[in-house]
Amino acid sequence: MVHVTLYSLNTIQGMTKSTKKVAYWPVLVSGAAITALVITGFTQVPEQLPRSPRANYLQYCASCHGENHDRFAARAWVYGNSLNEVSATLKHGRPAIGMPEFGQAMSDTEIRELAEYTIREVAQVPDVIPSSFNVQDTVHSMDLKFILEEVAGGMNIPWGMDFLPDGSMLVADKAGKLYLVKNGKQTEISGVPKVVVRGQGGLMEVAVHPRYKKNKFIYLSFADGPAPDKINTTIVRAMLDKGKLTNIETIFHATPDSNSGVHFGCRMFFDKNGYLFFGIGERGTMQNAQNLTNHSGKMHRIYDDGRIPADNPFVNTAGAMPSIWSYGHRNPQGLYYDRSTGVIWENEHGPKGGDELNIIKKGLNYGWPVVSFGINYNGTIITNDTAQLGMEPPFHTWTPSIAPSSLTRVTSDKYPTWKGDFMSGSLSFEYLERTLMKNNRVVGRERLMPKIGRIRNVVQGPDGFIYISVERVGKVYKLVPVK
Ligand code: HEC
Repeated sequence: MVHVTLYSLNTIQGMTKSTKKVAYWPVLVSGAAITALVITGFTQVPEQLPRSPRANYLQYCASCHGENHDRFAARAWVYGNSLNEVSATLKHGRPAIGMPEFGQAMSDTEIRELAEYTIREVAQVPDVIPSSFNVQDTVHSMDLKFILEEVAGGMNIPWGMDFLPDGSMLVADKAGKLYLVKNGKQTEISGVPKVVVRGQGGLMEVAVHPRYKKNKFIYLSFADGPAPDKINTTIVRAMLDKGKLTNIETIFHATPDSNSGVHFGCRMFFDKNGYLFFGIGERGTMQNAQNLTNHSGKMHRIYDDGRIPADNPFVNTAGAMPSIWSYGHRNPQGLYYDRSTGVIWENEHGPKGGDELNIIKKGLNYGWPVVSFGINYNGTIITNDTAQLGMEPPFHTWTPSIAPSSLTRVTSDKYPTWKGDFMSGSLSFEYLERTLMKNNRVVGRERLMPKIGRIRNVVQGPDGFIYISVERVGKVYKLVPVK
C-alpha cells in the first residue's frame, strides 16, 4: 500500500539507481518517526513503535494474501494455527510452501501481534468471497467495450491453454487435469501423468506441436521428482488419441530437485523452426539463476524430442547445462513469441517490486539477483544495482509488483484499438494488465476488470479472440467486443 501511494507512476524504463532508492525510502529508513509518517494515510497508529498488526499486514502480507485476508490457501494451516506455530511461520518463513521469512522486518512482539491478528482475521473470512466484479456486466475499457462469455469451468486453477488445428481448446488445470473444449463441450482427457501439486507447482502449461495434424503430439509441463520433497519442473510429450494421452515420454526434467514450492516457470512455445522454448524459475534459491551448472532461473531451447540443438549458446561451456538459452531469471511466467519478427517476449516476477518485461536473446544474462528493481519481501535490500555491464536491462518494469502470470500481444482485428498492446494477467491485484505500445515503446497502461480474480492465463486464439482464465472460480472466458 505504501508503494502504491508513494509511487504509482511506476514502471519507468531506464529507472536509475537513485530513483530506486527514493522509491523505497520508507523501507530503507525504519526510524520510528518516519515509519509512523509513512503508514499514516491508510490507518491511524500511535507515533511509537511497535506498529499495529494491521499496518504490518498491509505492508508485508497483503500483496500475497489479499488486503482482506482472503488468499490463504484454503486455510489449511500446514504448519499449525496456534499462536506459537504461526509466529514461527512469520519469523522463519516456510520455504517449502513459498512463505517468506519476516524475522528481520519486525520485532518479536510485532510478529506475535501480527500472528494473533492473522489467526483471528483468517477465521472470519467467509467460505465464498463475493467478488466486486460482476461477470455479467459490459466491461468498458478506455477505448473498447466487451462482454465475457464463459467457455470452460469446473476447474481449480486453469493454468495452461492452447489450441488444436481444428480450433478446439486444451486447458490444463493445475490440480492435475487436462480438458478439451470442442464446440462448446468440455471433456476430460485421460492418461495425464501424475503430478506433484505443491505451492506454485502442479500441472502447468499445455502446448500443441506445430505439426500436430501429422504427429498428434502435445506437451505438458508440471512439477515432479523422485520424492514429494525433491521436485522440479518436468516436460513430457504425449500423443493425444481419442481423448486419451498415450506414448508419454519425459523430454526434460530441471535440476536441482528441491523441497521448495516456488518458482517453477513453466510456460512453453514452439518457434517457427520447431524448437521448444520454456522458462524455469530459480526455485527460491536466487543463486541458481547465475549458475550455469543447473537449469533453474533460465530460459531453455530444445528440439521437440528433448535433444539439444548444437548451436545453443552454452553447449561448449564446461559444466553448463546445454539447454540454456538465457540466464539470470527469477521466475519466468508469460512468454509471447512474435512470429513475424521472431522476437521472444517474456515477463517474470520480481521480488517486492521489479517485475520485468524482457526481450529474450540468445546467451544473455538478465541479471537476477545481481541487479534488480525490487527488494526482499521483508523490506531488506537484495542489491543496490539496477544495471551492470554485461547484464540485460528489462524492457519495462512494474513496481509495485503486479505478479504477471502470462503474456500475449493483441494482433487480431477483433480489438482494433488494442492492436500491438501487451496483455498480462495480474495475480496480486486480480485484473488484466494492458500495456499500451506505440513505436515499440511502452506508452501507458490500463487495468481491465479489476477484482475479477487472479488471472492465470491470457491467450489470443486462432479465431482472433482473447481468452482469459481465472483462478478459484476456475473458469475460462472469451472477451467478446460489443458496440
Ligand atoms: C511472497 C508472497 C507472500 C508474502 C509476502 C507472505 N506470504 Fe504468507 N504464504 C505465502 C504462501 C505462498 C503460502 C502458502 C500457501 C498459503 O497457505 O496461502 C503462505 C502461507 C502462510 C501461512 C500459512 C502457513 C501454514 O501453516 O499453512 C501463514 C499463517 C502466512 N502465510 C502468513 C503470512 C503473513 C502474516 C504475512 C506477512 C508478514 C505473509 N504471510 C506474507 C506467501 C506469502
